[in-house]
Amino acid sequence: MREWDAAAYDRVAAPQARWGRDVVDRLPLAGTERVLDAGCGTGRVTEYLLSRLPAGRVVALDASSAMIGEARKRLAAHGDRVEFVVADLGKPLPLESPVDAILSTATFHWVPDHDALFRHLAAVLQPRGWLVAQFGGAGNIASVMRVLATIDDGWLGPTHFETPEATTERLRRARFTEIRAWLQPEATRFEAGEPFERFLATVILGAHLERLPPHARIDFVKRVAASLPAPEIDYVRLNVIARRSNSRLAND
Ligand SMILES: C[S@@+](CC[C@H](N)C(=O)[O-])C[C@H]1O[C@@H](n2cnc3c(N)ncnc32)[C@H](O)[C@@H]1O
Repeated sequence: MREWDAAAYDRVAAPQARWGRDVVDRLPLAGTERVLDAGCGTGRVTEYLLSRLPAGRVVALDASSAMIGEARKRLAAHGDRVEFVVADLGKPLPLESPVDAILSTATFHWVPDHDALFRHLAAVLQPRGWLVAQFGGAGNIASVMRVLATIDDGWLGPTHFETPEATTERLRRARFTEIRAWLQPEATRFEAGEPFERFLATVILGAHLERLPPHARIDFVKRVAASLPAPEIDYVRLNVIARRSNSRLAND
């Protein structure tokens, strides 16, 4: 599991924070629930989620202990209303009791096996509980992928970008119902030069840079930035809203 430069991510992830608020607003909440934020990162979206839960609680889960460290600092004022968990969404989740709802933003495209992911989420969600998520979908960052295919060994990275149709089918197999899944193009413009390169290095190319010796990293980022037609990322987000069915899975 990859560690992130959590402080750097927190400084540049304004687009993710903006989209995240819209996703939180789609979650039906009374304000008293216990909600899992699956892939909470540095806790910016989690903080907004907490504002919608005046008498509720959040389980802030992430595979990166650096991200959980930043989230702990950001959310310290919320005391025991936040439970922090370092765990891999690709494995059964170590939660003591089921949650009432699940939120996830900008995370699922990093998890290789979505059948396993949705099964593990269903296993910790109360029957009739909502899953509301947004992540990279089919066509996401296609222009960056085209450039990456032409550089060095052409490795495209560890992410995968699924269609609404395949995702709906996987959610159904994991016993979710009332499923809606749709793509949302979100082309995002950046200030050219160092700000754009910093964003690429921190959010999009982190796994690529880890494979390179430190002295070769800046040059790699500059080559990608210079090969793109503009300082713009052609983001495409996949939104999901689904409800856990009443029936339990055999392995629950
Ligand atoms: C782009 S950040 C998104 C963070 C936050 N939700 C946001 O919207 O700003 C992706 C997060 O997913 C986490 N992540 C990636 N793969 C994961 C996995 N298999 N299990 C748990 N977390 C994972 C990363 O550590 C990172 O914090």
